Amino acid sequence: MTVSPRIELVPGGLSLSRLVFGAWRLLDGQNPGAEEVARLIDTSVDLGLTSFDHADIYGGYAVEEAFGAGLARWKGRRAGIELISKCGIMLASSNRPQNRLKHYDTGAAHIEASVERSLNNLGTDYLDLLLIHRPDPLMDADDTARAFERLVAAGKVRAVGVSNFTPDQFDLLASRLPFPLVTNQIEHSVLETSALTDGRLDHAQRLRYAPMIWSPLGGGSLFTGEAHASKGCGQR
Ligand SMILES: NC(=O)c1ccc[n+]([C@@H]2O[C@H](COP(=O)([O-])OP(=O)(O)OC[C@H]3O[C@@H](n4cnc5c(N)ncnc54)[C@H](OP(=O)(O)O)[C@@H]3O)[C@@H](O)[C@H]2O)c1
Repeated sequence: MTVSPRIELVPGGLSLSRLVFGAWRLLDGQNPGAEEVARLIDTSVDLGLTSFDHADIYGGYAVEEAFGAGLARWKGRRAGIELISKCGIMLASSNRPQNRLKHYDTGAAHIEASVERSLNNLGTDYLDLLLIHRPDPLMDADDTARAFERLVAAGKVRAVGVSNFTPDQFDLLASRLPFPLVTNQIEHSVLETSALTDGRLDHAQRLRYAPMIWSPLGGGSLFTGEAHASKGCGQR
């Protein structure tokens, strides 16, 4: 059996590299600086990792801008990489003093404003994939879907999906859209196997979409032996 180095999320359209560069920890420790980020992008692409996973909140709302500075210095072609971003988590952060408490906002106004900021920070005029980062208990699926439709129609987003959704939450949002949700980005590793038994991977297989996996090494716990307590990027 041969394993394709790429995964098609949209038949004949958007595909991602099988391994994705996760940008969440880019600014943990020292800020690498634009030249170093450009080198990281170059090395990643050379290795076949052409897809870069972001979220508005990474690095306390600072990673996308730092990555964008590197991307501006990178000599490659924008069309040769895929940029993924997420939104919907409102972190309490010094960069968002208006968020006094962590909460969720999946309303159209927030999604569209967040995408504009991501485009601006990354220095691009389109995202290859936009995901709702976590389920919002107060989601109005019609409103969320309207934002997705407008962003796709405007060419600002090529495809849309979700992250950390249950099958029911996925189906609810999908029921309001004229095009498919192309993925559910979920945690999965040998240390966190619940997606195998709670229906999320069955759902992906039933609807024939490829899930994206986060923390495949248990955030490093696989090697360090430290307890892994699902310290996801929006959960800290
Ligand atoms: N959608 C969501 O809710 C969500 C949540 C979390 C993450 N994500 C996405 O998934 C991406 C990957 O998540 P992740 O960073 O948690 O993935 P991961 O691959 O499970 O963990 C990476 C961590 O493992 C450490 N590590 C790797 N090899 C190691 C070794 N041999 N010994 C000790 N430590 C080792 C790395 O440390 P070094 O850096 O020192 O190598 C790094 O801190 C994120 O960047 C983000 O894009 C999405």
